[in-house]
Amino acid sequence: MVDPAAPILIFDSGVGGLTVLEQVRKLLPDAPVIYVADRAALPYGDKSEAEIAARVCGLLGRLAERYHPRLICIACNTASTIALGMVREVLEVPIVGTVPAIKPAAEMTRTGTIGLLGTRATIRQAYVDNLEAQYAQGKRLLRHAAPELVQAAELKMRGIAPDPAVFARAAEGLLGQPGGADIDTVVLACTHFPLLEEELGKEFGPSVRFVDGAQGIARRIAYLTKGQSFARAQDDFAIDTSHDQDPSPLLPAFQSYGIGRILRL
Ligand code: DGL
Repeated sequence: MVDPAAPILIFDSGVGGLTVLEQVRKLLPDAPVIYVADRAALPYGDKSEAEIAARVCGLLGRLAERYHPRLICIACNTASTIALGMVREVLEVPIVGTVPAIKPAAEMTRTGTIGLLGTRATIRQAYVDNLEAQYAQGKRLLRHAAPELVQAAELKMRGIAPDPAVFARAAEGLLGQPGGADIDTVVLACTHFPLLEEELGKEFGPSVRFVDGAQGIARRIAYLTKGQSFARAQDDFAIDTSHDQDPSPLLPAFQSYGIGRILRL
């Protein structure tokens, strides 16, 4: 039997996984959660596949030994599209990953042209090619790497307004491609990006809808933990892997997601 106090561990390189936590809270309000931000290695999107895979496998192994989670959610598209298979091979714990929401986007589009915003590492993954081949046949998928948006989301969660030019560049990066004017659906294929939906919405205009994977991930977590009981032994907390950045400016944002403390790893 699963210990009712065993947490769900939600993992990202930074604040992006909070968009997944928000949806998990809606379905499983009593689930104890440990949120992990690997800010020591942020951004993942500019690293090599080998670096990301080694980092994610090593860190999740340490965290699993220390906190005995009932389930780990890799709330990061970059880490999931690169390392999900590997992590599943090395850890016994059920692992839920985050994959670009190409399938729902393909079902939603009317024009048949979908945009995808992700990190540099995510948009070059074969995992994304496979999702495109499987779910977006006969549609056009235009990809754009927007690493600046990761930093913008990190700033926003510290209460600092990001430079609006960043959002204009992200929109132009998709809409300015050949055929880009036909985009009516944009996949936010990085968990940081839904934190910026309002700002992005202004640049893309009212005819574009955004889609991300957070709700689907929460449903998957609820499905995999069905029948288990939940009882918090302590308040939910976050772990920050960074030792040279002060996490306290993030605390107000984390508190709004029910995380009252940010500890150092
Ligand atoms: N939040 C992560 C994702 O979903 C990536 C951010 C980063 O580059 O670290 O891809």
